[in-house]
Amino acid sequence: MSKASLFSELPEAPLDPILGLNQQFLADPSPNKINLGVGAYRTEEGKPLILNCVKKAEEIVDNSGKFNKEYLPIDGPADFYNASQKTLFGDTVATHGDKFVSVQALSGTGALRIGMEFVKKFFPKDTTVYISDPTWPNHKNICTAAGVPWKNYRYYSRQKNALDMAGLLEDISAAPDRSIILLHVCAHNPTGMDPTPDQWNDIANLIQKKNHIPFFDCAYQGFASGDLDRDAEPLKDFVRRGFELFVAQSFAKNFGLYGERVGTLTVVTAQTQTVKALRSQLKSIIRANYSSPPAHGAYVTQVVLTDEKLLREWKEELKGMAGRILDMRVKLYEALKQRGIHWEHVMKQIGMFSYTGLNPEQVQILIQKHHIYLTGDGRISLAGLSTRTVPILADAIVDALTLTTQKL
Ligand code: LMR
Repeated sequence: MSKASLFSELPEAPLDPILGLNQQFLADPSPNKINLGVGAYRTEEGKPLILNCVKKAEEIVDNSGKFNKEYLPIDGPADFYNASQKTLFGDTVATHGDKFVSVQALSGTGALRIGMEFVKKFFPKDTTVYISDPTWPNHKNICTAAGVPWKNYRYYSRQKNALDMAGLLEDISAAPDRSIILLHVCAHNPTGMDPTPDQWNDIANLIQKKNHIPFFDCAYQGFASGDLDRDAEPLKDFVRRGFELFVAQSFAKNFGLYGERVGTLTVVTAQTQTVKALRSQLKSIIRANYSSPPAHGAYVTQVVLTDEKLLREWKEELKGMAGRILDMRVKLYEALKQRGIHWEHVMKQIGMFSYTGLNPEQVQILIQKHHIYLTGDGRISLAGLSTRTVPILADAIVDALTLTTQKL
């Protein structure tokens, strides 16, 4: 007889819809399997990519004698977060930088978590975070784990395969004043549909009118247009307007530093005299979570961002990644067209993902029958495709559409 356990009644947690899918993919013995689930860049050969600028910076970190394995400050090295600020905020650092408080974070997730814990601790009790519907599923987990209530605002119409701007404005307008509005800076995950500059303008005006607090998630800077500055334009516009706001910045994708967990959280305040208190409170949240951040990835990023030549090389390599993804988007669109499927929305979307519009049953056909893995909401990571696999995916989509239409 097995011994009684404290944990015998413990239910199993559900698989994570993105990282859990990765586990399923790895366990699939099919030699033809294709992973379009997790948003991680792959080369044309389907391999993870370590950027050349990262390899060079790693050599400098290992051999220059300037870096060691001591604890970092609780908020990370100032050289790291100051350089990260420049990447994100561009020319607004010169005009508004004295009101920015940045700390190193465990990539975008860690930054969101510190920010939400701050909201829980210092904002009025019923402050609610409004999250786009749909969004990256972990946004909800993070708010829930931090004890911050969240609700959805309409963002995307699956019927029209387009942004639901009227719904978005209505929901943000109906939210109580001083709510937190979570926004994706660029390359919206999972839909790939970003507001146009005019639509951003309307969103900013409304948020201003309602005294809401924007909380930006910036996980794909550089992947929308291939240009870091251009991709951060909506955020910079909010800063120029004088908003107080939060930004979670991730270097996972644009530096290919997924497992290094490198990112920042920045709070933008309206008064420079609040900077000191803000930093101290962010540090106290971090100290109680993980004490101080990991050093290696931050040093590598810092070396690239503060060396003119490496910085230039990074921007080129980033453009290369964004270019290959766009190439896959066009190839998929064309391959579907050749097969009689006219998915114009694929070309309107931007960044690493395409929100195909496939329903859960069609997704299961792709996974079970064709061993092509994508998330349950029909999102595919275009970065996981190659010239070889585009026609395989297009054929599988035709099959899934045909099988499910025949049933109707
Ligand atoms: C994704 O959306 O696939 C990525 O952001 C990876 C993750 O952590 O979910």
